Amino acid sequence: MLFPDYRPRRLRQNDAFRRMIRETRLSVDDLILPLFAIDGKGVKNPIDSMPGHFQLSIDNLINTSKKAYELGIPAIMLFGIPDKKDPLATSAYAKDGIVQKATRALKNKMPDLNVITDVCLCQYTDHGHCGFVDGQIIDNDASLDLLARTALSHAKSGADMVAPSDMMDGRVAEIRNILDENDLSNIPIMSYAAKYCSAFYGPFRDAADSAPKFGDRRTYQMDPANALEAIREVSMDIEEGADIIMVKPALPYLDIVCRIREEIDLPLAAYNVSGEYAMIKAADKMGWIDGKKVMMESLTAIKRAGADMILTYFAIEAAEELRA
Ligand code: PBG
Repeated sequence: MLFPDYRPRRLRQNDAFRRMIRETRLSVDDLILPLFAIDGKGVKNPIDSMPGHFQLSIDNLINTSKKAYELGIPAIMLFGIPDKKDPLATSAYAKDGIVQKATRALKNKMPDLNVITDVCLCQYTDHGHCGFVDGQIIDNDASLDLLARTALSHAKSGADMVAPSDMMDGRVAEIRNILDENDLSNIPIMSYAAKYCSAFYGPFRDAADSAPKFGDRRTYQMDPANALEAIREVSMDIEEGADIIMVKPALPYLDIVCRIREEIDLPLAAYNVSGEYAMIKAADKMGWIDGKKVMMESLTAIKRAGADMILTYFAIEAAEELRA
């Protein structure tokens, strides 16, 4: 059926028609808010490249999380900024580590807000890599035990879900095993399955103080040029026991989100990363774009591509917009 018999504009002429034929609807239920926890009291260090985001001590972390909870956001993703770093990332799995303390405090105050913890070593190692380093080599298998211990200590502190972001091979299986052995078989794993080696993580590394001190992450994070490999990565993580799989970043990788959605029937998350956030905030500040509209369009696009949930620094702003 072609013009003039078919006129797509017929169903665009008023808001009611547009609402009736809308295919994608963003909901507060889709949003996960990433937050940065740091030691201290009353601390709220602004992150320059991520306006509106802060390194938060536990008291402030609770305030922000409460706001998210009251807006109906179902979960936060917790990142820790430890006070000490060492080669074995010991503060990543310490009982009184920052994520462990923050998780206990959050679950105590807001038991119904899901706390997902990022499981990685890069904030906790003195060299800033996501695994154990031997000379110049990021040693895959030596990293697995450290990652598993980290995930276990998060779960023991009350985390509702753990999310490994390190990209070591085999870590999902290792984490699933250690959780199961410790009567934590009910704790799901959200795996950063297709995580690309992306320059869009720049602002996050300022926020979390996790930039590698030598080299880069190309030997473990994925090459941005690859798509088939994303399917292999995702399939592996599912076989190893992942419950939710993630594509990261989101906007420059919507083709990957779409392909994974078509091939895989597990819940799919997309991470709208720090650089994606920073670009919109910066252009809005310059008066070059309408930041709010670009935010809503971007999040809707990520959902349209096939994501079931979106990790985004816009979560509170978007929830407020959806409420209004
Ligand atoms: C840690 C981690 C990173 C991000 C999430 N977890 C940084 C990295 O891989 O260097 C990036 C998140 C963002 O940019 O918003 N492995």
